[in-house]
Amino acid sequence: MDIHAIADDLDNWVTNHPWAKGGYVDPSSTREERIAYHSNKSSTNPIQQVREEILGLVEVMLGLKKRQKIVEIGFGEIGGTHRLFKQLFDEVHTIEVRNDVVDRHVHEQMEGELGNSHFYIGPSNDPDNYLNVCRAVVQCDALFIDGHHSRNIVESDWRMYHHLVREGGIIIFHDTIVDFEGEREVAGLVEDLSHGNINGRKHEFSHIHKSVDVGISYYIV
Ligand SMILES: C[S@@+](CC[C@H](N)C(=O)[O-])C[C@H]1O[C@@H](n2cnc3c(N)ncnc32)[C@H](O)[C@@H]1O
Repeated sequence: MDIHAIADDLDNWVTNHPWAKGGYVDPSSTREERIAYHSNKSSTNPIQQVREEILGLVEVMLGLKKRQKIVEIGFGEIGGTHRLFKQLFDEVHTIEVRNDVVDRHVHEQMEGELGNSHFYIGPSNDPDNYLNVCRAVVQCDALFIDGHHSRNIVESDWRMYHHLVREGGIIIFHDTIVDFEGEREVAGLVEDLSHGNINGRKHEFSHIHKSVDVGISYYIV
């Protein structure tokens, strides 16, 4: 599949999902507007991503030498990124604390969704979950970190799982434009990683920032 086919398929899925209304995340929206928008529970973005940002990431992923396995932290309400990654990688290993959202997806799979999913239910820093992922994956080509966004958890996600990514693979963070203290603190971690403040190495990040305050950042291992 090339980028145009993937974009068409994703647009079609996002627009026509039978019950998850709301489309992509509006790139011009602010966090406050999104909280107000979702508070009435009548809408849920099928994919919690800005279209131009996630398709920018797809282009980068299509350029990877190997696309066998990806580890994803955070499935989301409907699992839009999980579904997308299933088209790009042979195996998608997703860690998600909520079992209800994963159950819904498994049900959708029975209705014809691709079946190359592997799920680990529970917090990403749970020791059993961690060992199960490491034992099943051994080595992967990509790590997409989009689970809990507090500094300590996003940092421990990186510290625990980045070793799995092979040389030439990619490590990606979501929500990297701006931090909201105590709630979303990914941008600060990306800054610290790029300055060598975490493990003494200055990781060279690229940024796909095409919105007011969402954004994707990644580096190649
Ligand atoms: C922002 S959503 C992911 C959105 C998804 N990537 C998408 O674009 O559609 C974050 C998800 O991470 C899950 N989560 C939060 N903390 C977690 C943790 N410590 N371990 C695993 N999953 C977690 C939440 O339940 C939620 O489903």
